[in-house]
Amino acid sequence: MIGTSKKSAAIRQMFSAIAPKYDLLNRMLSLGVDRRWRRSAVSRLRCGNGGMILDIATGTGDMALAAAAVTDGSVRIIGVDFCGEMVEIAATKITASVHRERVGLCIASCEALPFSNNTFDSVTIAFGIRNVVDRVLGLREILRVLRPGGKLVVLEFSTPRSRLFNTVYRFYFSRILPAIGGLFSDPGAYRYLPDSVSTFPDGERFAEMMTRAGFVNIGRSELTLGIVTEYRGEKPVTPC
Ligand SMILES: C[S@@+](CC[C@H](N)C(=O)[O-])C[C@H]1O[C@@H](n2cnc3c(N)ncnc32)[C@H](O)[C@@H]1O
Repeated sequence: MIGTSKKSAAIRQMFSAIAPKYDLLNRMLSLGVDRRWRRSAVSRLRCGNGGMILDIATGTGDMALAAAAVTDGSVRIIGVDFCGEMVEIAATKITASVHRERVGLCIASCEALPFSNNTFDSVTIAFGIRNVVDRVLGLREILRVLRPGGKLVVLEFSTPRSRLFNTVYRFYFSRILPAIGGLFSDPGAYRYLPDSVSTFPDGERFAEMMTRAGFVNIGRSELTLGIVTEYRGEKPVTPC
């Protein structure tokens, strides 16, 4: 099931418009560092032989493929996203990869995951949770589909704490990035990016949201001077 609210429909439409240029702009605007962020996140995964990993807001599939690259050949990975155009690009990349037999895709919203309770050993969501309209419901859905003891790893943009670096970064993020994004793709989408990052409750506030949703053993690390934060949490082994 995909999100039906006006806001989530607008977000889905925006991602449809930028899908063809998404990978190119990602590499260009992050100067290639986005790959390193995903590698860090997948190094945190917990998944034994024959296990299952879910990548939510999989977009063009980079995180699902990064997870496949570090896990045993018996592990199955499913990428879900509510934007069909992004999933189509992911499907092309997965088909061309050596991991095609064990990475599957599905069109669904984070707030209504089409999976049974206690299915996955680990769940990832990279640069997706900021766009999820009902984050509390989304986090509860993730908790529901994780197995007891299973792990969630979230990557999301955050606001650097160093004042000097923050000034430089804000200039890049709010002026240069939308200008370059607008040249190659939908200008509105690359204005939405800095706006959505500035309103996202990052750091301790998002960690608290994870706790309220029911996660335990919460941890977080800042990457690249705090441009991105990696959040980790686990589903309790015994119900609270
Ligand atoms: C910035 S992209 C991130 C893609 C990918 N995870 C990556 O690391 O490049 C955000 C993705 O989240 C998806 N998305 C946003 N809200 C969603 C929701 N509520 N449910 C499922 N997917 C969602 C969008 O369609 C888009 O593909």
